[in-house]
Amino acid sequence: MATHTGFQQQRPFARSAAVRSALEVGYRHIDTAEMYGNEKEVGQGIRDAGLERGAVFVTSKLNNGYHRPDDARRAFDATLSALGSDYVDLFLIHWPLPTLYHGDFVSTWNVLEEFAKDGRARSIGVSNFQVAHLDRLADGSQTVPAVNQIEVHPYFGNEQVRSYDHTHRIATEAWSPIAQGKVLDDPVITRIADVHGKTPAQVVLRWHIQRGDIVFPKSVTPERIRANFELFDFEVDDTDMEAISDTASRSFSVR
Ligand SMILES: NC(=O)c1ccc[n+]([C@@H]2O[C@H](COP(=O)([O-])OP(=O)(O)OC[C@H]3O[C@@H](n4cnc5c(N)ncnc54)[C@H](OP(=O)(O)O)[C@@H]3O)[C@@H](O)[C@H]2O)c1
Repeated sequence: MATHTGFQQQRPFARSAAVRSALEVGYRHIDTAEMYGNEKEVGQGIRDAGLERGAVFVTSKLNNGYHRPDDARRAFDATLSALGSDYVDLFLIHWPLPTLYHGDFVSTWNVLEEFAKDGRARSIGVSNFQVAHLDRLADGSQTVPAVNQIEVHPYFGNEQVRSYDHTHRIATEAWSPIAQGKVLDDPVITRIADVHGKTPAQVVLRWHIQRGDIVFPKSVTPERIRANFELFDFEVDDTDMEAISDTASRSFSVR
C-alpha cells in the first residue's frame, strides 16, 4: 500500500526555507507573484541555497491592479527589487481582467514586450487566458506568449485552452496541479498509486508531466517537497492515463 498520510505532523517551513529546501532537493523552477506577497522570500531562499542565479528559473507575475502601462513598469521594477535580481526568467500577466483598465490587456502585453526587449524578462507569457483572450492578443501583437499558466488537474482538464496552447506553440503550465489536495482521495488515483507503490500526489504529478504540461506543486512541508520531486522512476500506462483524465467528469475548479 502506498502511504497517503503522515506528512501533517512535520513542522512547515518558513517561505524562504521552503524555497531553499526545494532547491536542495533538486527543483529548479520557482513560481512566485506580486499577488502572493512572497517575492522577497523567494529571492532570499535562492541566495540561501548558494546557487548561481542562472541555475534557477524564476517566474513572477504582474498583479491585477497594475495593467496600465506606467503601473506595469513600476510593478515590474518592484518585482525585481523584491527578488533582489536584475532579471526574471519569465514574467506573466497574472489575469486578463477584461473588466479593468477597459480590458486593454494588449497594451499591457506591449509593456511586457519592452521588458523582454531590454532583457530584464528573459521570456514573457500570460496566465488564466482563455481562447478569446489569446486570439485577441494574437491580433494585437507579433509576440507569442511563451507560456499560458492555467488551472489544470484531473478534475479540470481545461482541454480547450490546452489544445489552443499546443497548436500555437504556447507551453501550458498547470496551476493547482493536485487541486490543492482535493483529488488525492479519488479511488481511481489511489488505486493507481497502490499499483506503483507511489502516493496519489506523485501519480497526479506524473500524469501532468506525461501530458506535457509544466507543474509546480506548492508545499511548505519538508516530506511533501521531497516526495513531489520523486516522479522519474515510474510511468503511468495509457489506460491509467485515460482513467485519470476521465475523473474530470467529477469536474470542479478550486477557485
Ligand atoms: N496563475 C494563477 O492564477 C495561479 C493560481 C493558483 C496557483 N498558482 C500557482 O500554482 C502553484 C500551485 O497551486 P496551488 O497552491 O493552488 O495548489 P496545489 O499545488 O495543487 O496544492 C497545494 C496544496 O496541497 C498541499 N500538498 C502539496 N503536496 C502535497 C502532497 N504530496 N500530499 C498532500 N498534500 C500536498 C499543500 O500543503 P502544504 O503546503 O501544507 O504542504 C497545499 O495545501 C502555486 O504555488 C502558484 O505558484 C497560480
